[in-house]
Formats: sequence, structure tokens, C-alpha cells
Amino acid sequence: MSQSSPVPVVERVDARNRYEILVDGERAGLTAYRDRGEQRVFYHTEIDDAFAGQGLASRLVQEALTDVRDSGKRIVPVCPYVAKFLQRHEEFADLVDAVTPDVLRWLDSRLG
Ligand SMILES: CC(C)(COP(=O)(O)OP(=O)(O)OC[C@H]1O[C@@H](n2cnc3c(N)ncnc32)[C@H](O)[C@@H]1OP(=O)(O)O)[C@@H](O)C(=O)NCCC(=O)NCCS
Repeated sequence: MSQSSPVPVVERVDARNRYEILVDGERAGLTAYRDRGEQRVFYHTEIDDAFAGQGLASRLVQEALTDVRDSGKRIVPVCPYVAKFLQRHEEFADLVDAVTPDVLRWLDSRLG
């Protein structure tokens, strides 16, 4: 009998400022952000090695950015993965703000 593969689930975890992707209840990766007014500044995305190369980062970021849209916020793609994703997904272009030196200084001070 064939087994169907588990459907990944993406959750926003406000207390940790990140979105997580779960596979079969196990955390497979995350994309981390800080909020700067109406801007959600994404600065790091990672998928655990055991789950790499399955398109999970793409699914995670797609759902995270859709949540940003639904929340009425804007996207600042400091994370190179999110920036690359946005180059290929023009449907989010109207929500994207530039990564400026001001944003980078602000992020540094937030992340210590
Ligand atoms: C980058 C990472 C999140 C990709 O996870 P994944 O689930 O294997 O990714 P997907 O299968 O959804 O997508 C693979 C794509 O990611 C791209 N990618 C890999 N590393 C990347 C990086 N550092 N920056 C941007 N894009 C990257 C690949 O080129 C590939 O693109 P393609 O689809 O055009 O071939 C994962 O490899 C990782 O955790 N790396 C270590 C942390 C890291 O470098 N994070 C990115 C910068 S914060």
C-alpha cells in the first residue's frame, strides 16, 4: 500500500518573530523577521539539512509573504533567499520596500 507524503504546515509564531514550517508535526525550518512599523523585515531563512531540496523554503516563504499581505503589512527582503524568491514571484512586488542602510542599521540594533 502506498503512503501519501505529509502536507507541510506553515505557522506564524509571534512570540519568536518567525514563521515555522512543520512536516508531520516536526519543525523543518523557519523564516525569521522583525517588525518595523508596518514593515516586516525578513532577515534569515533556514531549512534543516534533513529536509533540504524539497521546495520547503519556497513553500514557507510563499505562505509567510501571503500572511504579510493579509496583515496589511509590507515586506523588506534582507534575507537573500527571500530576495531571490521575490525576483521570481512578481505577485508580491507591490508590497516590497527596499533594503536601505537605515533598515540595516535598525536591524543590527534589534538583533544585537
Ligand atoms: C537556503 C535554504 C533555506 C533553501 O532551503 P530548501 O528548502 O532546500 O530550498 P528550496 O528547495 O525551496 O529552494 C532551493 C532554492 O534555494 C536556492 N538557494 C540555496 N541557497 C540559497 C541562498 N543562500 N540564498 C538564496 N537562495 C538560495 C537554490 O539556488 C534553489 O534555487 P532554484 O530553485 O532556483 O534552484 C537552505 O538551503 C538553508 O537553510 N541554507 C542555510 C541557510 C541559508 O543560507 N539561508 C539563506 C540565507 S538567510
